[in-house]
Amino acid sequence: MLKKSHSIKKVKKYGIDLGERGVYDVRNKLNELTGKEWVYFTNSIWITGYSPTAIENAGLKYRKIHPSPKPPGLLKDIILFFTKSNSLILDPFAGVGGTLIGAAMAGGNRKAIGIELEPKYYDAYKKACLSECIEIMPMIIDDSLNMMNYKLIAEEEFDLIIADPPYSNMMNKVRTGQKAKLNGEKLATPYTDYQEDLGNLNRERYLEKLKKIMHLASTRLKNNKYLVVFCKDFQPEKDNPNILHADIIYLLSEIPRLQYKGMRIWHDQAMSLYPFGYPYSFVMNQIHQYVLIFRKE
Ligand SMILES: C[S@@+](CC[C@H](N)C(=O)[O-])C[C@H]1O[C@@H](n2cnc3c(N)ncnc32)[C@H](O)[C@@H]1O
Repeated sequence: MLKKSHSIKKVKKYGIDLGERGVYDVRNKLNELTGKEWVYFTNSIWITGYSPTAIENAGLKYRKIHPSPKPPGLLKDIILFFTKSNSLILDPFAGVGGTLIGAAMAGGNRKAIGIELEPKYYDAYKKACLSECIEIMPMIIDDSLNMMNYKLIAEEEFDLIIADPPYSNMMNKVRTGQKAKLNGEKLATPYTDYQEDLGNLNRERYLEKLKKIMHLASTRLKNNKYLVVFCKDFQPEKDNPNILHADIIYLLSEIPRLQYKGMRIWHDQAMSLYPFGYPYSFVMNQIHQYVLIFRKE
């Protein structure tokens, strides 16, 4: 929310000078950012590093029971770009609540609702919130495919959907080679053992179910609002280049009224480099994720 202050000055016809933040355009329909902040967010490469103790990584001590929790600070930035105050956000793969905490951190009375299969992730989320005095938002414990059974979803309209689904069965793969040697273990780290978990499906069934869930979610999204999806590619294989982000763009573009608008590439500086393939052949160290952006038009 734009706060009144003595330093606010009118600039030309539509601008309000917010000092160091830059100039806010009163015609801005999407967010409460200044022009300078807006343009910064549209950079296609996004490099961040959130240390385990950074305030933007709230309650990581509890949330780290999850194999891939997102830094809430990252989600806060996404929420600040795609929403105004009093907005409602849906996360159909809530995990330990990166989006829900991000919404609380964004402030302006923004609220979020999560859906997650695994109750122990919800418990970890609640502990993280209690330890940091962060507002606890609702999380439905169920398969997202059942979201319409809940009034909280079926009777609401959302200003933003953020989805961080499992990346097919990537987490289920037993570690081999350098990473296993360096970590001293070969265990796979699936999110859950449930058969409903997208992460436990083969590629074909994964894509089919992801599309169904995103289609359902998109029916609850307001017009001209955004749906943001995180994803990662796999290592290329002999018979498949495994470009999952491209598959997801094509797949979700088939959902009525959903228009792909572009992507940001998020480089997580906290990721370590491993000597995969060394000293024989090139094997990519994938230290980025795709943030795919769709709009309901
Ligand atoms: C990549 S993680 C999300 C992490 C989350 N962004 C966070 O910050 O903690 C994906 C989550 O989706 C959940 N999941 C998988 N299939 C699901 C389904 N069908 N319905 C609801 N949740 C599901 C998994 O249990 C996992 O926690």
